[in-house]
Amino acid sequence: MKPTHIEHIGIAVENLDESIKYYESVLGLKCYAVEEVLDQKVRTAFFQVGDTKIELLESTSEDGPIGKFVAKKGPGMHHIAFAVEDATQALKDAEDNGIRLIDKVSRKGAEGLDIGFLHPKSTNGVLTELCSKGK
Ligand code: CO
Repeated sequence: MKPTHIEHIGIAVENLDESIKYYESVLGLKCYAVEEVLDQKVRTAFFQVGDTKIELLESTSEDGPIGKFVAKKGPGMHHIAFAVEDATQALKDAEDNGIRLIDKVSRKGAEGLDIGFLHPKSTNGVLTELCSKGK
């Protein structure tokens, strides 16, 4: 695997609309999309910063992954996502390197990307997402 850039940084927030205001009025970024990802139980908001996006994540349910994260750790940085050629192949490569996977094969994430996660226990504590353009 050879990531080309940081595709996005995922940030868990308690209130999406309030957080969007901060990124727009203080940082001067423009929210270009708000999208609900049903199987992740989140509402997401996106901002472009150069090649990288900021992905805000608000949980729509207490038992979703972001709901649990915020309950345990509070809002804040949640994951880093690297752009790769082929997310499924990159997951395999990571597994061959002894990395524990959260997703054995890629699945559909926000913006139609193929995504998969590496477990933070195997990545020095950083929840790591690999994503590629959907096929
Ligand atoms: Co993400």
